[in-house]
Amino acid sequence: MSEDRKKGCGTILVVEDDPVVRRFIEAAINKTDCQVTSVGDGKAALTAIDKEKYDLVITDLKVPAVNGIKVLEYVKKRQPDTSVVIGTAFGSIENAVEAMRKGAFDYLTKPFSAEDILEIIDRVIGYKRRQNNNSQAASSDGSSLIGVSHSTDHIRNLITMIAPSKTTVLIEGETGVGKEVVADALQQASNRREKPFIKVNCAALPDTLVESELFGFEKGAFTGAHARTKGRFELADSGTLMLDEIGEMSLHLQAKLLRVLQSKKFERLGSGQSVEVDVRVVATTNRDLKEEVKQNRFRKDLYFRLNVVKITVPPLRSRKDDIPPLARHFLDMYCRENEVKKTLSQDALEKLTDYDWPGNVRELQNTFEKAVVVTPGETITAENLHFVDEYRDLFEYLFSSEDDITIHEAEKQLILTSLKRNSYNKTKTADALGITVKTLRNKLKEYGEPVGEENS
Ligand SMILES: Nc1ncnc2c1ncn2[C@@H]1O[C@H](COP(=O)(O)OP(=O)(O)OP(=O)(O)O)[C@@H](O)[C@H]1O
Ligand SMILES: [Mg+2]
Repeated sequence: MSEDRKKGCGTILVVEDDPVVRRFIEAAINKTDCQVTSVGDGKAALTAIDKEKYDLVITDLKVPAVNGIKVLEYVKKRQPDTSVVIGTAFGSIENAVEAMRKGAFDYLTKPFSAEDILEIIDRVIGYKRRQNNNSQAASSDGSSLIGVSHSTDHIRNLITMIAPSKTTVLIEGETGVGKEVVADALQQASNRREKPFIKVNCAALPDTLVESELFGFEKGAFTGAHARTKGRFELADSGTLMLDEIGEMSLHLQAKLLRVLQSKKFERLGSGQSVEVDVRVVATTNRDLKEEVKQNRFRKDLYFRLNVVKITVPPLRSRKDDIPPLARHFLDMYCRENEVKKTLSQDALEKLTDYDWPGNVRELQNTFEKAVVVTPGETITAENLHFVDEYRDLFEYLFSSEDDITIHEAEKQLILTSLKRNSYNKTKTADALGITVKTLRNKLKEYGEPVGEENS
């Protein structure tokens, strides 16, 4: 059992057998004033729960000895006030639903980010970021947004301009460009900054779950609805609600959302009574919603309703001036995290600015996460920078093989590669490959790969 005691605002138990993930969660918690205890299996978790009271337990679903659901049940029996968050693998949404019905506070779908963990801690305990981590904290002009390009300046100005109002904002841009960073900066610049900031990822959940997530439900609304539960709209009251990947929302839910945006009222599932809320809505999308409207996949009226102000975050390749400051930022960040000191050589910087960054800022960040760890000396040179190019790996696999490769095998590898590249989002993958989601699902079934939920 590794223990890290600090004076702080709450106590958290982490149950995770993968040491890398465990350290990652610990590092995120260490950005707060909370105390963290971590264990590697369910049995040790039960012992820890017997010994001490926790405010929050974050457990992986599949941990050795006693699984996450059993840990949840044990906590609910011994420490009913303690919130439990379950980490689940991508595609195992049924387990997440089961956990929620058994009283879990929330669940985290892997891979999750440090921000996801901080958001959960904030909702359960409320936390203060530690003073020494404040260099990245947002300020009122959106300076958490790093970059010196003309487009980033423009976005900063837009944020300052629209932050005080309640207007709905639509943030468009390719994957990894920083849409969420823009949404965060907007929230921080607004007078709602002390108020709840609730995020819902519309792509990660099946339709039925999005509906109960958004609007909440009454006791008995469906099997397993044991208690009245507030939805995200209600939780966001007086604050901001971010609807992430709104382009993935079904037409049925789009109609419901439109009504809520128009009337500011909604009903919990299983209730006839309407609830009124004061919520600023920020929606993000990596699809061209205008095009989606043309294809009848997105409601025109909802599009107009959301598109009061649009912020388009351009791809990193078209604002290369942002690369050096972002690179320095990520270098600092990972050096601090790994407690090392490294600098960047001129040829490394040139390699970074020459590259096209299909995965945008996220890919740049990942590049530094690795480079800081793999570089032996003090200077990161061009050779230490490796860009993850799944398609190049695929190409090498297909053409350097000794044996002939069948079309069937090539197709399978292409589909699996594209899936990985599109963060396992089936809609995006199908779009990229020029096939329908249905065909993609059939192919995955054929390969014996997990097909997941309808909308994931
Ligand atoms: N301008 C920026 N300054 C600092 N960090 C940034 C900036 N833009 C992006 N990042 C970092 O890059 C990563 C990806 O950003 P973010 O999650 O906001 O992208 P996104 O556009 O929402 O991606 P997706 O479409 O996949 O949801 C995050 O870790 C974020 O902190
Ligand atoms: Mg995002």
